[in-house]
Amino acid sequence: MKKQIMAAGIAGLLALGMAGCGGQGAGGGDSTDEATTDSTSTTGSDKSDITIGVAMPTQTSTRWIADGNAVKEGLEALGYSVDLQYAGDDIPTQTQQVDQMITKGDDLLILASIDGTALGSQLDAAAAAGIPVISYDRLIRDSEHVDFYVSFDNYKVGVAQATSLLFGLGLTDKEGNKAADAPSGPLNIELFAGSADDNNAGFFFNGAMDTLKPFIDDGTLVVKSGQTEFAQVATLRWEQAAAQARMENLLSANYGGNGEGLAGVLSPFDGISRGVITALQSVGMGDTIADGLPIVTGQDAEIASVTFIDKGIQFSTIFKDTRLLADQAVVAAGAMLAGEEPEANDTTTYDNGVKVVPSYLLPVVTVNKDDIQAELIDSGYYTADEVASGQAD
Ligand code: BGC
Repeated sequence: MKKQIMAAGIAGLLALGMAGCGGQGAGGGDSTDEATTDSTSTTGSDKSDITIGVAMPTQTSTRWIADGNAVKEGLEALGYSVDLQYAGDDIPTQTQQVDQMITKGDDLLILASIDGTALGSQLDAAAAAGIPVISYDRLIRDSEHVDFYVSFDNYKVGVAQATSLLFGLGLTDKEGNKAADAPSGPLNIELFAGSADDNNAGFFFNGAMDTLKPFIDDGTLVVKSGQTEFAQVATLRWEQAAAQARMENLLSANYGGNGEGLAGVLSPFDGISRGVITALQSVGMGDTIADGLPIVTGQDAEIASVTFIDKGIQFSTIFKDTRLLADQAVVAAGAMLAGEEPEANDTTTYDNGVKVVPSYLLPVVTVNKDDIQAELIDSGYYTADEVASGQAD
């Protein structure tokens, strides 16, 4: 019965067309309040009968633990039951978990994929059962059955990472304007990208390379290894150990084994940054940037990296407030379950190979040492004690 009502709601949504009609749901301002209220009231008082399946990729990175917890808490606060699963970065585990969510009769799925192309048959089954799907942070590709996408502006993440590298190297100010007293170079850098099966990794890399290109073209920056193609610099599963091993190889092949002449490393994720930093420290480049450690960027404001930034070891990270992303997923889910159209703020960028998926994208913030207090502690994301200890509760 429940499923039939759902299916009717989704059919109604499809008839209306999902994209960009200014509906209610996952947005800021009045429409958010309205959508939250509507979805609360229209789904009735026995919402614990409605279960939302939430699939997260891994618990090895603190960001996904924060995401999972925040989505669960947000949905439970609205009265829904939540089936939260982590897949240990193992694709068969995740497909099995999603299969089970569908056979158990979960009413809506919020999925952060490991491999963006591996959930096609699960999405077919979900659609056949009338279960709507929200792609969470990472776009699921090659399926028409992705109903909505919540994420950050992934291209801008890459721009922010590259801008931060340029700032750290003294070539620009923090906003990316050319510095008056910029070193003439050449400055040697190396590049890392994320997992090639994650749609976001290409967006991050493209944003970064578009930003670095003028400096590479005019010879100010030199990628000494010559490894500038995405396929050459990608890091499967975003794995820290793989990044460390690649950095060690780059150091011995191009920097005399002791890192001499390496000024900076573009890193797309804090776990990769810490792998890179371990490699740089272990060849004696210094314990901190002040001691000679190269500039290393990052992403996610993972607590271990925030502590590194505070101690002057890692230069920066890109803070993506997972509380806001979880809120958007919750509001979108509430709207969809009420048969409404979630509010999108981007209906052109995220083509998953089959369709352009209506999206709600959130802004990102670059965090250097000086920003930790205002962005992370004052906002309640971490306590000062957590930043000092490098461990979040
Ligand atoms: C996320 C990043 C994260 C990376 C590794 C990406 O899909 O957008 O925030 O750093 O996965 O977990």
